Amino acid sequence: MKTILIFVSTLDGKITKWGDPMIRSWSSQDDQDYFDAIWNDTRIIIMGSGTFRPDPVKPDSKHLFLVLTKHPDKFKSYEVPGQLEFTNESPLHLIERIKEGLEKKILIVGGAQIATAFLREQLIDELWLTFEPKIFGMGAGIVISEKLDIKLNLISCDRVNEIGTLMTKYKVLRNEREMNIK
Ligand SMILES: NC(=O)c1ccc[n+]([C@@H]2O[C@H](COP(=O)([O-])OP(=O)(O)OC[C@H]3O[C@@H](n4cnc5c(N)ncnc54)[C@H](OP(=O)(O)O)[C@@H]3O)[C@@H](O)[C@H]2O)c1
Repeated sequence: MKTILIFVSTLDGKITKWGDPMIRSWSSQDDQDYFDAIWNDTRIIIMGSGTFRPDPVKPDSKHLFLVLTKHPDKFKSYEVPGQLEFTNESPLHLIERIKEGLEKKILIVGGAQIATAFLREQLIDELWLTFEPKIFGMGAGIVISEKLDIKLNLISCDRVNEIGTLMTKYKVLRNEREMNIK
């Protein structure tokens, strides 16, 4: 099973424009189409409550959305068992539980707190990062401010439009042998 962390970012590493949660107000149509295709093709999608709250996902029978929150009770009214669930499980426990199924890949769609928690625990296999050729100066980053030391290798980088939106895929290096590739 592959765990994929996916984000769209500016060149200065911002995943929100000055804190505004509405990402589609600035991401390219190409990225939105790409994201929608991946979203439709993945059954299990994990996000933090900070990503869920501003734009709650609509449950459907093709997905199991798992939203991390310290207070699952607060979200009871949204819950649809098997489709939209809220959990206070640790990232490690959650991934171990999902691994017991037959899932080929799972998608972690942010935000920064959740990305940091999964990266810290070495639970991410690949980072799929779209770079939009923009600079916002202020806004959230792909991780929160803490000491991390994560090494990655570029798998692919595709220019997808005139303005130069880049769609990249990185493998997260997790063991000694991989690290020695440098
Ligand atoms: N550009 C992009 O690709 C992209 C993608 C996703 C999100 N975003 C943006 O990022 C922003 C949200 O990011 P964020 O960092 O503020 O929030 P987030 O990572 O989506 O969610 C943070 C929340 O997750 C819960 N949480 C964190 N760690 C947990 C743990 N170990 N166990 C259980 N629950 C845990 C807490 O919820 P409770 O407070 O409920 O306990 C916490 O407040 C939004 O503005 C969104 O639009 C951008």
